[in-house]
Amino acid sequence: MSKKKLVFSGVQPTGNLHLGNYLGALKNFVSLQKNAECIYCVVDLHAITVFQDPGHLHDNVLETTASFLATGLDPDKSIIFNQSSVSGHAELAWILNCVSRVGWLNRMTQFKDKAGSDKEKASVGLYIYPNLMAADILLYKATHVPVGADQKQHLELSRDIAQKFNNDFNCKDFFPLPEPLIPKNISRIMSLRDGTKKMSKSEESDYSRINLKDTADEIIKKIKKAKSDSETIPDDAKLLKNKPEALNLLNIYSEITKNSLEKTISEMAGEDYSYLKTKLAEVLIDEITPVGKETQKLLKDKPYLKKVLKKGSEKANIIAEENLKNIREKVGLI
Ligand code: AMP
Ligand code: TRP
Repeated sequence: MSKKKLVFSGVQPTGNLHLGNYLGALKNFVSLQKNAECIYCVVDLHAITVFQDPGHLHDNVLETTASFLATGLDPDKSIIFNQSSVSGHAELAWILNCVSRVGWLNRMTQFKDKAGSDKEKASVGLYIYPNLMAADILLYKATHVPVGADQKQHLELSRDIAQKFNNDFNCKDFFPLPEPLIPKNISRIMSLRDGTKKMSKSEESDYSRINLKDTADEIIKKIKKAKSDSETIPDDAKLLKNKPEALNLLNIYSEITKNSLEKTISEMAGEDYSYLKTKLAEVLIDEITPVGKETQKLLKDKPYLKKVLKKGSEKANIIAEENLKNIREKVGLI
């Protein structure tokens, strides 16, 4: 099995999924399920590294599952489940806590960003978050991990942990070194209000992001209000270097219309940004609103969503237990 392509990825159930999640990760998840064995996980244990209201967390796990299905993930093709229902994730995370090094974790930029200025008050879970992520991937001996660019550093850490485990326990090639699959053209969708920050669930202003459940009117309003540029669209992408908001809008439009940035620019050069915004809102409405509508429809049948998770957990657990048996043996646990 270790020679075959095995895909694993996770999404945190921490609120509305947005265009960044969709273009950076979910679209890739869907296309991968055609040719590879895929495991997609709603990572609820990662979510609680920052306090979550229990009722909200419960709802968000179901909503993230519904969005998975609404974007085209098929529970008959891919394993879809929530992390906490397979206890092997937590068990392997502990073992990997003992393999990973404090110096490695100290370099993680996401911890620095999320913990903010008062690191003493961050949860220990937030600090060792990347070790749990490594456990998610290695528990299944996954070979490929589709993620947005923001997760690149965590993926590199997962590779370092896999390598150290293989060395420490004298089992070359036991864990494959997982490869990140990061979208080439647009790996980081930026905030609509500040082109230097990534689009995120946690930014306060809802105008900073397009949520998968936004209505057509909301999309039009948000794109209209998005920061762009007072000059016209240039004829050369190099001229957008210091205009991150304008570049972001052009990048999103190119990605959705499946064109290169160069082609979009050559078609729109000389136009005002309002021209781009009208077209962008149109293509976003076509692409995004069906996903939102389908998510809402699926959310009306919670027993079905729970059944999908339960079936997925059962399948995931079989692989996890088999691998854990070997992992415990390598470490010397009885
Ligand atoms: P999260 O919502 O943080 O669990 O992220 C789920 C997936 O979406 C991960 O693969 C992230 O890398 C990806 N992602 C999140 N935000 C963005 C963004 N602004 N641009 C591109 N990918 C993103
Ligand atoms: N850390 C990822 C994020 O915030 C989510 C995640 C958890 C993940 N475990 C994973 C992604 C394993 C890929 C593989 O986006």
